Amino acid sequence: MTGTVDVDAVVEEARAAIGSASSLEEIRQVAVAVSGKKSPLAAVSRGLGALDPDSRRVLGQKLHEARTTIEGLVERRRSDIEAEELSTEMAGARIDLTEFVTGAIPAPPSRGHLHLVSQTRDALEDVFVGMGFEVAEGPEIESDWYNFGALNMPPAHPARGMFDTLYLNLGEPETTLLRTHTSPVQIHLMEDAVVNGVLPIHSVMPGRCYRRDTPDARHLAVFHQVEGLVVDKGITFADLAGTIEVFTTAYFGPDIHSRLRPAYFPFTEPSAEFEVTCTICHGPGCRTCSQTGWIELGGCGMIDPAVFEAVGIDPDEWTGFAFGFGIDRCAQMRHQIADMRSLIENDIRFLRQF
Ligand code: DAH
Repeated sequence: MTGTVDVDAVVEEARAAIGSASSLEEIRQVAVAVSGKKSPLAAVSRGLGALDPDSRRVLGQKLHEARTTIEGLVERRRSDIEAEELSTEMAGARIDLTEFVTGAIPAPPSRGHLHLVSQTRDALEDVFVGMGFEVAEGPEIESDWYNFGALNMPPAHPARGMFDTLYLNLGEPETTLLRTHTSPVQIHLMEDAVVNGVLPIHSVMPGRCYRRDTPDARHLAVFHQVEGLVVDKGITFADLAGTIEVFTTAYFGPDIHSRLRPAYFPFTEPSAEFEVTCTICHGPGCRTCSQTGWIELGGCGMIDPAVFEAVGIDPDEWTGFAFGFGIDRCAQMRHQIADMRSLIENDIRFLRQF
């Protein structure tokens, strides 16, 4: 029997079988097959006793080497498989903290920006500051005196009808209301200037105003105005007209001009309506400007002496002009917004354009 078994060939077969084992269970089975009791080597070793002493020694030596080789191969393969299994298990258990960015990289959160009306207010302030004006503000809740009386609109004056508003308190101790225009800030500034002795005044006063109006394409019940006030010596209507023209081209661009048309306001004399070239058609006339080529922006005029007297400024010594116009209307004109109500509908698709 020993003569029929080639020990070297047995070792080579065992090497191949061990090499192809791919799990711990397989290597265990292979180990039994190549070196267990039923293995070819066990059969060879059982036959040793029948050999002569020399042959037994030689073959015994060879068997020992073969067993040592095979055991070494089995052990090496077993530890390789263990290492492979461990690394597979570890790879499976690994927590990939960066996994959430493995797909499309998400856009950074959007930061938003100032509302168009705030941007417009800032831009208007910049233009006037560039012309030498200061910026002032006044309260949104006014007394009857500031909103009307001091502006030459005594109780029951018909001009009050233009400014129908929301009253907060009627009569005692005094009537208070949401201001209908920024003109009352003129009164605050003039009173303060008299008290502090800081005439002349060159100021613009932006802010929110309220009227009991039904919103439409060109009006909002809560809207914004910027008021202008100059009180100085020797001021003429030409200063007013020049100031408005400089502002118009600075804000709307060199193609857009201004014109003043006679109007009436109780707090200015003479008074004018202030119009600018239609920003849609640039002059020839279109639907937006009712075919006139002009769009009304606000009112203006020379300070009525009655207003100076109401705040204690001597109208023989001081002269001045004032103007007031809509900030929302400016935004509408400059950006060609068909319906002013879009400004307050909070539709992000509309607002993010600006
Ligand atoms: N306060 C007026 C309004 O809201 C606009 C206005 C007209 C303001 C003439 C002025 C002015 O300062 O002089 O309709």
